[in-house]
Amino acid sequence: MAGNYDNSASFYDSLSRLVFGRALINAQIYLLPQIPANSNILIIGGGTGWILEEITKFHPSGLRITYVEISAKMMVLSQKRNTGQNKVTYINQAMEQTNLPAGFDVVITPFLFDNFTEETLPGIFNQIHKTLKPAGMWLYTDFQLTGKWWQYTMLKSMLLFFKILCGVESWHLPDVAKQFNGYDYEIAEEKNFFGDFVVTRAYKNHVIAEASPKSSPLERAG
Ligand SMILES: C[S@@+](CC[C@H](N)C(=O)[O-])C[C@H]1O[C@@H](n2cnc3c(N)ncnc32)[C@H](O)[C@@H]1O
Repeated sequence: MAGNYDNSASFYDSLSRLVFGRALINAQIYLLPQIPANSNILIIGGGTGWILEEITKFHPSGLRITYVEISAKMMVLSQKRNTGQNKVTYINQAMEQTNLPAGFDVVITPFLFDNFTEETLPGIFNQIHKTLKPAGMWLYTDFQLTGKWWQYTMLKSMLLFFKILCGVESWHLPDVAKQFNGYDYEIAEEKNFFGDFVVTRAYKNHVIAEASPKSSPLERAG
C-alpha cells in the first residue's frame, strides 16, 4: 500500500523538527482546544502518535479515540503514548480497508492527504466524510502552495524523499479544498504556519451527511 511510513518511523519526528522546528506540531495543536469533552474522535495517519499525548493534555479522560495508522512501526510507537483515562482503539490498517461506522464528533487528518493523488483523494475523502456526524468537526492540517518559490522546492524535495523511502504516490498536492467545498463544509477557524506553507483548518459540516458530493447546479435543474 502506497504511503506507508514504516521506513521512516524511527526518525520521522526528528527529521520533521530539524526541517520545520515546531511548526508542524504547533499547526496541529492550534485546533485541539476545539475538541469538545467526551467526544468520539477519529484520527487517521497520526504517525508516531504524539498527537495523542497533546489531546490528552486537554482531555485527560472522557474521550473515545479511534486511531487508524497504516504503518505497523508508527503504530507500535503510538501505542506507547500516554492517553490518560481516554479509551483508544488502535487500528493498524489503511483507512480505505476499514469499515468504520458513522458517529464521530471529530475527525483529524494531519498531513494525510499529501499522500493521495487527484484520482485517489475523492474516494478516501468520501469515506471519511461518511464517518462524521452531521454538524461534526473535521480538523485538517496539511501543506499548501501560496506562490512562494521555496514552498514549491521544499514540497517537491519532500515528496521525492518519501516517494523513494515510503512509496508515496503523489507528486502534487491534490485539491482538498475542492472536496470540502463539494460537501458543503464551512471553515470555522483557520491559521497558516511556516511562511504560509502549512495550513490548519477546522471545518464544520452544516448539512445532513450525504454519501456523495452536492450535485452541480445543472444536475439540480434537471
Ligand atoms: C506525513 S505522515 C504524518 C504523520 C503525523 N500526522 C505527523 O504530522 O507527525 C502521514 C502518516 O499517515 C500514514 N498513512 C498514509 N496513508 C494512510 C492511509 N491510507 N491510512 C492510514 N494511515 C495512512 C502514514 O503511515 C504516516 O504515518
